[in-house]
Amino acid sequence: MTANTVAELNKRFGIAGVAVVEAGEKGLARVSVKTAAAEGHVYLHGAHVSHYQRTGEAPMLYMDKSSWFESGKPIRGGVPVIFPWFGPNPNDKTQPAHGLVRQREWELVSVAQQEKDAVCVTLAIKSNEEMKKAWGHDFELTYRVVIGRTLSMSLIVKNTGSESFSCENALHTYFRVGDIHNTTVSGLENTSYLSKVEGGVIVNPGDNPVKFEKETDRVYFNTRAVCVIKDRILNRHILVEKEGSLATVVWNPWIDKAKAMPDFTDDAWPTMVCVEAVNAGFCAWTVNPGESRAVTQIVH
Ligand code: BG6
Repeated sequence: MTANTVAELNKRFGIAGVAVVEAGEKGLARVSVKTAAAEGHVYLHGAHVSHYQRTGEAPMLYMDKSSWFESGKPIRGGVPVIFPWFGPNPNDKTQPAHGLVRQREWELVSVAQQEKDAVCVTLAIKSNEEMKKAWGHDFELTYRVVIGRTLSMSLIVKNTGSESFSCENALHTYFRVGDIHNTTVSGLENTSYLSKVEGGVIVNPGDNPVKFEKETDRVYFNTRAVCVIKDRILNRHILVEKEGSLATVVWNPWIDKAKAMPDFTDDAWPTMVCVEAVNAGFCAWTVNPGESRAVTQIVH
């Protein structure tokens, strides 16, 4: 995107003293919001929230300093938007992991001041010929990010084709923590999960909160629970609420996987954890022609 286009977008969408469209990393356009309550960044690339920080507090999201900020590639950290498949494409391994929209440019639809100290950034993307060829269906996504005392993200999936489709989606949020060894996630006690690192076995964790002692990649099914990330080093609790999502993914890559990812800083894994609002596997959505469904994650 040229400097001129960014300036044009700012002319249309900027709100004096509160929101500016600016060139972010590698010149990619982002909306930068600052209110008395919080600040945040939303890139048009992937509709990606890369930063959220409440006034007087440490940043809430983890962003990897080795991340790509390039057309055709996802951003590592923040909140990747995943659609229409989660993880590898089940039928075609040549397709990108986690779907088609996190590595593409979205359209900025509006930037609006809401109630006091909150700003809503709305973005959208529609299937084009290339996406339709890759997935076979027409869709339109709208994404509303509200940056205020809480960070609220709502993804609305509309079926704009003439046949029903089944889709997966996720708000794949990376949280910043002081040290993963001193972090737990509660809210998923007594909820069965599929452990990807143990070859897909189903485990019942009993009464225990999630603790991290090795690579952890779990899909908890049939849960609407609020999760609490308890961080004994940064001395804070982050609440992760959701609506319209029946699965929660908890992920930390640990040593070897972090090293294997080219866009992940080798020694940064102790400072992040993903807690994701997901609809995947047998919680995937069916969306009929003309119908819309929404998933929301609220963090504070
Ligand atoms: C998680 C998945 O949601 O995302 C993991 O459960 C995956 O299996 C991780 O490794 C990161 O995926 P990617 O494609 O961004 O490297």
